[in-house]
Amino acid sequence: MSYAPNSPAARDVAYMLHPYTNLSVHETKGPLIMARGEGVYLYDDEGKEYLEGLAGLWCVSLGFSEQRLVDAATKQLQTLPFSHIFTHRSTPPVIELAERLIGIAPEPLAKVFFANSGSEAIDTAIKFAWYYNNALGRPEKKKIISRKRAYHGVTIAGGSLTALAYVQNGFDLPISGVLHCGTPCHYRDSLPGESEEDFATRLAEELDQLIIDEGPETVAAFFAEPVMGAGGVMVPPKTYFDKIQPVLKKHEVLMVADEVICGFGRTGNMWGSETYGIRPDILTCAKQLSSAYLPISAVMISQPVYDAFAEQASKLGNFGTGFTYGGHPVSAAVALETLKIYESDDILSQVRGVMGRFQDRIRQLADHRLVGEGRGVGLMGALELVADKDTKESFPAALKVGPQVVENAITEGLILRPCPGDIIGICPPLIIKESEIDILFDRLTAALDKTESQL
Ligand SMILES: Cc1ncc(COP(=O)(O)O)c(C=O)c1O
Repeated sequence: MSYAPNSPAARDVAYMLHPYTNLSVHETKGPLIMARGEGVYLYDDEGKEYLEGLAGLWCVSLGFSEQRLVDAATKQLQTLPFSHIFTHRSTPPVIELAERLIGIAPEPLAKVFFANSGSEAIDTAIKFAWYYNNALGRPEKKKIISRKRAYHGVTIAGGSLTALAYVQNGFDLPISGVLHCGTPCHYRDSLPGESEEDFATRLAEELDQLIIDEGPETVAAFFAEPVMGAGGVMVPPKTYFDKIQPVLKKHEVLMVADEVICGFGRTGNMWGSETYGIRPDILTCAKQLSSAYLPISAVMISQPVYDAFAEQASKLGNFGTGFTYGGHPVSAAVALETLKIYESDDILSQVRGVMGRFQDRIRQLADHRLVGEGRGVGLMGALELVADKDTKESFPAALKVGPQVVENAITEGLILRPCPGDIIGICPPLIIKESEIDILFDRLTAALDKTESQL
């Protein structure tokens, strides 16, 4: 046991069930308790400083001490702490947020629906794809395609789209009607000598074949993160989305962009969809929508999708879906202020100003003996650790090399996240300065060196 009896850690272990945690290991290890945050740094309950190299869970874009967000929440709590948006009701902050969001949304999105988490947004987007096809009189067109190693959350439908064993094992997932196509990871999945463009062509052909084999009249939607996040930061190969989208159009399959991580500047543009030329019929976003200060997510749809919904809802008498807290006025006020800060502080220029340094330092680390590939775009990236750089052979899973690097980084004062396959995800707050990027990579290098010496 590494905590004192009756300490906060002991009480944590006594009463709490932690997500994504080995429950029995937690009983002896206990929690790392974060007490406060400032800028890009967190401080634990003993005062030790950590640079948050994953922006919480890819979400705290504005760092941990943005007073404007605190003030926005406080003011809204004092004015109207809750009122819902069911049955023709609305509130000022949610109206202003919707207008601003559609104002910056990628073409051709026209209407927004609010939920509370990325997973809820994904489940809602799946329901929307089904509702759309029912509205068009195509009740068979319901299957959803996602990609191997995708992460789309943990709810029953979202967790079925997520194609990572650790999310599905033991939970009877995936549900039926969910298909998984190839991962756009050139480093791992391309053939010897295959260019990025040729690899993209092959993935698009495979998708086309999958839809044909299943029957295009049975396939409703294709869900994709512009850059796969939790599955290991897979940057799509050149021309990937240019080749995927005509396949979807040909078969009348909806393109759903899951921008839960990529949205709001992460890839160097407001949306990953802009970075990769995606024209989504439906888009999900969350996380950086409120810099994670309060839970809120959104699903945006195009005008043709909305028109079909409006007709169907008239027939049924009701658009029968919604969450009590969807469009919560306090979350909406914080999200609205977040979007105002992105504009007033020109967050895109900030990201573009430092992302070169960030990507350079990732790619320099590709020379490290443990690193097979350093990849990324904008202010997100990853290191894929390998036992043999030439053959790309992975370390035996039992060695837990990725988690070991992350543990050593904690000791160095840096928080990162291990993704499956010994991949280290890096995704700092968007407000990070160049000098802080250097601190991040210096601490990461120290953690890699230490892990190498321990192997
Ligand atoms: C791309 C993507 N979609 C959906 C989700 C699920 O979001 P949440 O954890 O808020 O339910 C995540 C979470 O990391 C994500 O990265």
